[in-house]
Amino acid sequence: MEIFIRPAGPADAEDIARVQRISWAATYAKQLSPESLARVETAWDARHWRRSLERVDDRVISLVLEGADEGIIGFGVAGPRRGGKDPILRAYDGEFYLLYLLPQFQRRGHGVRLMVAMARVLRARGTETALVWALASNRPAIGFYQHLSGSILMQARKPFFGESVNEIALGWRDLRILSSMTPTLRD
Ligand SMILES: CC(C)(COP(=O)(O)OP(=O)(O)OC[C@H]1O[C@@H](n2cnc3c(N)ncnc32)[C@H](O)[C@@H]1OP(=O)(O)O)[C@@H](O)C(=O)NCCC(=O)NCCS
Repeated sequence: MEIFIRPAGPADAEDIARVQRISWAATYAKQLSPESLARVETAWDARHWRRSLERVDDRVISLVLEGADEGIIGFGVAGPRRGGKDPILRAYDGEFYLLYLLPQFQRRGHGVRLMVAMARVLRARGTETALVWALASNRPAIGFYQHLSGSILMQARKPFFGESVNEIALGWRDLRILSSMTPTLRD
């Protein structure tokens, strides 16, 4: 089984929406209300993804993990840090916006591969620091980012599809920590 990383394009919209929907449901079913989950599914459907992948913005990096037989099994999106005038956050130029893998492909090293690939592209574009926001209740994701040397920066209450949720920001003051990693895959 060979899974490759490549840039995403508008033709991947359906597959990315599918991966996000399945990964979302598996991860957040117990963390968010059914109403919020339904709102997320509608907001992040294939149409949303087509529009966002058609937009030409060289600062945003969208990558997919794809196998010849498996199709698209995961994706990641990163770019400039969004919002927030907080002095702690302002020390970070980049942000990992999204990272989703199908459940059956998790814990095999693909998540690390995508993070490393995104960090390399961010650095190639001159971004040396980055952060990520995760739901505070998503302990596995927080454990994953800490495993990759992300440091917890702060917790904040944020609006999220009709709910107010606790989110945690983790940051990398030097993306070389990520970009220089050599990910290994496990079966
Ligand atoms: C979070 C996610 C991207 C991580 O990717 P992954 O491919 O599962 O993780 P990897 O196999 O690359 O992880 C490498 C290491 O990170 C750590 N790690 C990964 N998942 C972890 C978890 N659930 N709990 C604790 N540590 C974890 C482990 O040390 C792991 O190595 P090990 O398996 O040898 O113990 C993936 O699990 C996923 O898509 N989850 C659902 C969606 C999600 O939560 N996205 C993040 C939103 S902020």
